[in-house]
Amino acid sequence: MASWYFAMSAILLTHASQLLTLRGHAPRRGASMRDLGIILDGAVLIENGKISAIGTTDEVTRGVPQGGIRALLSGANLGTTPSLEELDCTNKIVLPGFVDSHTHPVFARPRLIDFEKRSAGAHYEEIAAAGGGIRASIRGVRESSPNDLARHVLDALKEMSSSGTTTVEAKSGYGLDLVSEIRSLKAIQQAGRDWPGTLIPTLLAAHVVPPEHHDNPDEYVRIVCDEIIPAVAGKLASYVDVFCERGAFTADQCVRILRAAVANKLKTRIHVGQLTHTALELFAGFHPASVDHLDHLTEADISWLATADTVATLLPAANYFLGLAEFPPARKLIDNGVAVALATDYNPGTSPTSSMPFVLSVACTHMKMSPAEAISAATINGACALNLQQQKGSLEPGKDADIAIFDAQDYREIPYWFGVNRCSRTITRRSAAD
Ligand code: NIG
Ligand code: FE
Repeated sequence: MASWYFAMSAILLTHASQLLTLRGHAPRRGASMRDLGIILDGAVLIENGKISAIGTTDEVTRGVPQGGIRALLSGANLGTTPSLEELDCTNKIVLPGFVDSHTHPVFARPRLIDFEKRSAGAHYEEIAAAGGGIRASIRGVRESSPNDLARHVLDALKEMSSSGTTTVEAKSGYGLDLVSEIRSLKAIQQAGRDWPGTLIPTLLAAHVVPPEHHDNPDEYVRIVCDEIIPAVAGKLASYVDVFCERGAFTADQCVRILRAAVANKLKTRIHVGQLTHTALELFAGFHPASVDHLDHLTEADISWLATADTVATLLPAANYFLGLAEFPPARKLIDNGVAVALATDYNPGTSPTSSMPFVLSVACTHMKMSPAEAISAATINGACALNLQQQKGSLEPGKDADIAIFDAQDYREIPYWFGVNRCSRTITRRSAAD
């Protein structure tokens, strides 16, 4: 059973069967997605929440490659001094904590009616048109107290970290009015204070048009641009996301919203191409950190993605849960040099899973990504999708000590064992600095 490791100021992990460093350039594209920078019999020294040394157990414990280690060890009696705690990782895989760069955790209830209807053969859009879908989650959020929402988010975060996730991007998007979107972002903020991982908040007021604006969607777009975005900018959200899709927002409406985001100094990310195609280049001027879903793409989109400074975040658990036969073209994207990330898309409608290992498994089985590509996509490329590659996503001196430890001897076991949790510990910058 996974648990948080609340440690003293220095922690030494030793004897990892495989230590996946993911060191080097970011994002990973093409063949470099298969380079995990593996060290056998690996060790990591953590001081005050940061990685201070990494190498083989022999190198790190002798202090050969890095200055500072020798000083620490020579002044300490390894294993007994209270300033340095050793964690033996024999028969374990040590890797950067997963970066889940796309989640929707602020909702009140699971959507069991939608699920049951789909199992009887109904389609996602058909269910949404009949009153289910995203709109069915609005009332629950509007009626929930701030504390209840925050508790729900925190429960989800704890579940995520129990399977190796240490950084999470969390979207609002089921409140869909000024008060409820602010309440949703405050719930994210409150949950983030009680969770030792790193939480990045995103405003997704443009998830769908709420029922009260059904007859005038442009008035809702105006409210998002003129009222909601300015109210959260610089305080409650780092990013603005939009759902550019049939039944949600048109490309033109999304452009207006993204323009307001940039005017308010917020960064952007986009849900696009999930059910129908929209040309990605329309959004180039907004420099989105990530474009997400991408089930429907053209050659022109792929060419643009291969050269753009953005990440293609694929969410195959949503395809799995919707029972779709088709998955995003991960192979083609990687082979064309696109920086691909993987995330859960945790949400009550299309992807009620908190498990990155499950997503990796689906990526390998249904999108034909290799296990190594899936791990790069879930760590360093996920960090790039949140502009956090300087701090997160790889294990290198100076970076945050955000680490997952799995009961396995070969990294390919992480996507191989599906439906079970082999993560035994998660360490984060904040827990390791305690
Ligand atoms: O990413 N695509 C839009 N949003 C979610 C679905 C949310 C829902 O159905 O509640 C997604 O799949
Ligand atoms: Fe989503």
